[in-house]
Amino acid sequence: MTSRISKRVRAMHGYVPGEQPTGDGVIKLNTNENPYPPSPAVTQALLDLDTNSLRRYCDPMCVQLRTAIARLHGRSIEEVLVGNGSDEILALCTRAFLEQDETTGYLDPSYSLYPVLSEIQGCRPVEIPVGTDFEWPAPAAFDVPRWERCRLFFITNPNAPAGTLYAPDAVREFAGGFAGVVVVDEAYADFSSSNCLSLLGALDNVLISRSLSKSYALAGLRCGYALGPPDLIQALHKIKDAYNVDAITQALALASISDQDTFRCNVDRIIATRTRLSDALTARGFDVHASQSNFLWVRPSTTSAGALFEGLKQRNIYIRYFDGPRTRDFVRISIGTDEEIDALLAAIDEISGS
Ligand SMILES: Cc1ncc(COP(=O)(O)O)c(C=O)c1O
Repeated sequence: MTSRISKRVRAMHGYVPGEQPTGDGVIKLNTNENPYPPSPAVTQALLDLDTNSLRRYCDPMCVQLRTAIARLHGRSIEEVLVGNGSDEILALCTRAFLEQDETTGYLDPSYSLYPVLSEIQGCRPVEIPVGTDFEWPAPAAFDVPRWERCRLFFITNPNAPAGTLYAPDAVREFAGGFAGVVVVDEAYADFSSSNCLSLLGALDNVLISRSLSKSYALAGLRCGYALGPPDLIQALHKIKDAYNVDAITQALALASISDQDTFRCNVDRIIATRTRLSDALTARGFDVHASQSNFLWVRPSTTSAGALFEGLKQRNIYIRYFDGPRTRDFVRISIGTDEEIDALLAAIDEISGS
């Protein structure tokens, strides 16, 4: 019998999200969530919500939320689009900016959703390998098949899984010489010492994607946004689902963004714990990659990365292991609370037999 499912969908692999273990005593350091609660203003906004208002459709253009985001970044509302998580922003970009037979580029390794989005769109990927120490690719790395048809390029900055920050000047130089659209995926930029916001207004082919999942502690809410030139933002608005961001999300995201004090306090705490964990693992002989994100990318000293991952999992501590050629010697550890990090270090010592 012929399948009802398109050949393209049958052939593709699909995105595999990080494990979401449940139950008591689980320490979850595997999907870069924020270990602290969202702003109390989010709780209040939820309590204040008039459920009768849900009879009506929500604002399809998210005007209040976009106004707040525009004000936060000193941009105009025409330069802002809100999405159902930043994943939706990335998906809309593949739909809006690619013709058939064109290709999607991204750094390798980086966010594993990009090849999936590219496949869904029926486009082929172009992977540009980062340097041996996960640094910005050497010029020769761009000398790859199908490069000339690359019309959309994703740069995760800071990158995942290594946490490397690429200098805005490197991104600016790359985007200045690229004919298509460059999406700078800044899901982790709030944890970093710089970002690419200065490229807005300077280059007409750069979009910046941001997420409320990490720094605002709202991964379950699903809200992200894009900043960029009005013509590109307008194209994304044209193709999005009419009501892509529901009324509850709009209200809670607005409350969250309006409380910058809680946001800053949580981000600072995570950065301080990142330094503490980095020092503690370095002292244990781990090779710790300099991270500008809310996670660390480390090569263990006394066990293999796979064995450490399994050993921690047996102790109910979840970190992330990617079994690829560039990644299999490392594990990625999301920054948790100080108590969670103490438990992690104790478990690592137990596994290492020290
Ligand atoms: C690099 C990167 N971009 C985007 C996302 C998705 O974020 P959101 O929850 O806003 O869809 C993630 C999630 O882990 C990520 O790692």
